[in-house]
Amino acid sequence: MKRIHIYIITILGLLISCKKETSVKTNNALENKVSELLTKMTLEEKIGQLNLRGTSSRVKGSLPEELKQAVREGKVGAFLNVMNKQYVDELQQIATTESPNKIPLIFARDVIHGFKTIFPIPLGMAASWDADVAKSSSRVAAIEASSFGVRWTFAPMLDIARDARWGRIAESPGEDPYLASILGKAYVEGFQGDSLNDPTSLIACAKHFIGYGAAIGGRDYNTAIINKELLQNVYLPPFKAAFKAGSQTVMTAFNEMNGIPASGDKYLLQDILRKQIGFDGFVVSDWNSVTEMIPHGFAKDEKHAAKIGINAGLNMEMTSQSYEKYVKELLQEGKITENQINSLVADILRVKFRMGLFENSKRAQDDSGKLYTENHLQLAKEAAIKSSVLLKNEGNLLPLNKNKKIVIIGPLANKPREQLGTWTFDGDKTHTKTPVTTFQQNNVDFTFVEGLTFSRDIAENQFQKAINAAKQSDFIIFIGGEEAILSGEAHSRANINLPGKQEKLIKELAKIGKPIVLVIMAGRPITITNIIKDVDAVLMTWHPGTMGGPAIYDMIFGNEEPQGRLPVTWPKVAGQLPLFYNHKNTGRPASSKEFVHINDIPIGAWQSSLGNTSHYLDAGFTPHFPFGYGLGYTTFEYTNLTLSSNVLTNANTLKISVDIKNTGNRKGNEIVQLYVQDVVGSITRPVKELKKFKKISLEAGEQQTVTFELEVNDLKYYNNKMEYGVEQGDFNIWIGKNAANGLKETFKYE
Ligand code: GLC
Repeated sequence: MKRIHIYIITILGLLISCKKETSVKTNNALENKVSELLTKMTLEEKIGQLNLRGTSSRVKGSLPEELKQAVREGKVGAFLNVMNKQYVDELQQIATTESPNKIPLIFARDVIHGFKTIFPIPLGMAASWDADVAKSSSRVAAIEASSFGVRWTFAPMLDIARDARWGRIAESPGEDPYLASILGKAYVEGFQGDSLNDPTSLIACAKHFIGYGAAIGGRDYNTAIINKELLQNVYLPPFKAAFKAGSQTVMTAFNEMNGIPASGDKYLLQDILRKQIGFDGFVVSDWNSVTEMIPHGFAKDEKHAAKIGINAGLNMEMTSQSYEKYVKELLQEGKITENQINSLVADILRVKFRMGLFENSKRAQDDSGKLYTENHLQLAKEAAIKSSVLLKNEGNLLPLNKNKKIVIIGPLANKPREQLGTWTFDGDKTHTKTPVTTFQQNNVDFTFVEGLTFSRDIAENQFQKAINAAKQSDFIIFIGGEEAILSGEAHSRANINLPGKQEKLIKELAKIGKPIVLVIMAGRPITITNIIKDVDAVLMTWHPGTMGGPAIYDMIFGNEEPQGRLPVTWPKVAGQLPLFYNHKNTGRPASSKEFVHINDIPIGAWQSSLGNTSHYLDAGFTPHFPFGYGLGYTTFEYTNLTLSSNVLTNANTLKISVDIKNTGNRKGNEIVQLYVQDVVGSITRPVKELKKFKKISLEAGEQQTVTFELEVNDLKYYNNKMEYGVEQGDFNIWIGKNAANGLKETFKYE
């Protein structure tokens, strides 16, 4: 028997070493190709590879001759937004047959949450807590986009977002690094597919590197101040996950971090990205972010900006052309070196070789059958259901009885374009199924009165008609929220209530005394404190995409239950922001025992009588809904939290189990969440950190024991000396349905 073991181990060892040898050979062969091509290239051609030429996707008529000539001379490495298949074919033909070294172009597009078939906005996708949903959505997007010649998407956006005023929270994976890392990996795998040289593979672009979501005040493009340990423990993990999953590119952010604009930050692009993480793809700037170092006050002119970018290690300049204009001069003046240029170009060529573009640069043909297929639409509907978060369901109002008289009111009930949300340049609104069209197609007996014609509408001239219709109905479904333009890039809001007169209309409707279901379509958490008491149920669908209507229909009538859980903390008022669950405890943590609400303060109260802890007199210290929160159509009971040991060491793994029972009367889904607190650290540690979660589905009355394993690696963090590890001491552990509740146990790490 022993001999067989030795034999097997030997074989395995040989296989592993062969695999390693093969990958070394492959890498060597690749590097030889890159080096060989570099030696043939002129300086002009090398500079051309560093140039991502922006075009308008609205190019009409024929391609400008100047553009074609630039390609012919090898002055362009990639294009952005060429959304005309003939133009793609024509430019690629010129590049691969007429340019000096026939180097293929890469065609890029922002394919963020779908291409033609639009999925929920990424913040909604994050609410699914489902890697499979993320991966399948990006695979569908890749199949649809590649048929238009796109082979590079500027996604996934992996900016941790802790401030709902920020417009781009809509595109973010939420506030938690662990959840964002799982989603980032899944998106990259979906976009890039099984092989980079598959014509339906889109190379991914982890963005925006880094700290874009930390913009002060949630004001887009604004200053980010992030200390080293926050960078390592909160903002970097999703990017590391994307790079580990093989993301071939990364995009620098518009913002400065600690005084240095990302596109010129050598520490970020060399020390962190290349040396610490070992990224071996290429870095692209965001739109004009190289020359924006001038308004940042970090470069005095374009030539200086180009020098900073090159010295920082920024490979490709998007849309601004400082490299094209000044690299040659900077070289001649010895301010940059030929080696630097060769290294930057090599990174780009390496990716092009990996994409198989030198062997086959043809656009994936036969696109006709690939758009809006039944499968794509079904996946988009499932994603919308898994993303939707049920925030309130008073008296189990939902699901509704289909045979009752229903009125649908609200400015987003029948808006095919708004329902798609931000970053959907290619989504075709004629394919959108809205709630109103879906109810009609399913022969629901309902009346539709918009009440307001768009989300910011302040006209009350339709109010009476809506009120009259509501009086004739059993249930009111109000579908409101934000138009798509109110979130996304450059669209931060200081007040994140329902815009326009939506609140007033809801309050008028509430006077009638009929049950109200509020369905919100928006790109961020919306503060609904003013009207939460006026409605009986609240369903957050984010901007749910092409199939939002069928998803809402199925959830309203109970064919499906909303399965989402909040990927961001939901504030009561904007004044609480930034607001996130994994905050520090402070020396004076707030508690309900001491807190006195502003309305309860006695007149002439003694100065120190209000509880000297960290809170707002008028908004307290808790969110409206916590991270991880979401209701379903059944209830779950958690009991019997058990640890295999109360001591964790480097040599063991904690096995944690909890019994969960579906105590309702219908099948239901639950996302079981495991949080940990490192009670004492060499720097202060968050009060809770999500470390594991599992999605389960139980029949009515069914009980299941859910188990997790926790090991030392799950607890490691960077302290302020950049030491990565775990200190011995006490830990708290919770398992529950959101960040605010759960069964608690303790253990020691020794
Ligand atoms: C935009 C965005 C970035 C996008 C790029 C190209 O300004 O910041 O996310 O990928 O430009 O459209």
